Amino acid sequence: MIKNIQEQIKILKKETSTAVLAHSYQSEQICEIADYCGDSFALSKLAQQVPQKNILLCGVKFMAETAKILSPEKRVFMPNKNATCPMAEALDYELVEHLKKTEPNRKIVVYINTTAKIKELADVCVTSSAAVKIINAMPEKEIYFLPDCNLGDYVKKQCPEKDIKLIQGGCPVHASVTLEEFNAAKAEHPDALVLIHPECDPKLVEKSDFVGSTTEIMDYALTSDKKEFIIGTEISITEHLQFRDTAKKFYALSKKITCPNMKLTTLIDVFHSLQDFNSAFEIKMTAEEIEKSKKCIDKMLELGR
Ligand code: 13P
Ligand code: SF4
Repeated sequence: MIKNIQEQIKILKKETSTAVLAHSYQSEQICEIADYCGDSFALSKLAQQVPQKNILLCGVKFMAETAKILSPEKRVFMPNKNATCPMAEALDYELVEHLKKTEPNRKIVVYINTTAKIKELADVCVTSSAAVKIINAMPEKEIYFLPDCNLGDYVKKQCPEKDIKLIQGGCPVHASVTLEEFNAAKAEHPDALVLIHPECDPKLVEKSDFVGSTTEIMDYALTSDKKEFIIGTEISITEHLQFRDTAKKFYALSKKITCPNMKLTTLIDVFHSLQDFNSAFEIKMTAEEIEKSKKCIDKMLELGR
């Protein structure tokens, strides 16, 4: 039955000239029918490159907004309008305005997991995979890194010559894993390497064997000679890896790293959206909003090349 719907989705994609771009935290069923499945950095680059007239973004809202900002001539839809990122929604516009006013010389670097409105205030935007490279490439020394203080802590340690200030904020899903759970997973699988996302608690990141974005973790695990891995990021990555390589063993660091917002989008939502775009949520932005929020994303693409 699933295969039947997946086949119909493939036909509808062609008929409607739609590229389905999925973040790798989507289910295996969605990634299988997607034109591309990858991390935030790859999705933002692809939004500009796909030839189709429409984009159906399976992920969370800031990703669909980023696609719209980079491809304003395309119609960008989300299959489920409630799929937002709590970290992105929590960052207060007035707070960022206040930080800019109090320290006008300190550059505002925001994680891509922010709303389009916040991006209007930022100098540069970064993804987890490109943050260190981009911050190192910036000529300025004084930086505010917003809002993920766990990723910020990792960046600070990798860029010791920069003066980076952080605020309290981050991903409630990745940050929920404790050191006790980390130690228990290691005790259960003593031969496994721990691969972790920098959105996790720095105490865990420091003790891990590899730190990277979603795609970096997948690439590392799939090309490594080792046979067992504890995966410290969203549960889908553990599943995708196990589907891709059955000769290796992948264990979730904690089943708590399941993002309820990423899981809101289902294969059925994708099917319904392609049958009738009225049942999807379209990202609408004015030309002025796009122009203002695009500057920090362009800077990211320029510095992260
Ligand atoms: P990336 O690894 O794609 O940067 O994303 C992490 C994440 O939490 C996306 O919401
Ligand atoms: Fe937001 Fe975390 Fe979910 Fe990513 S995993 S969408 S950062 S809540």
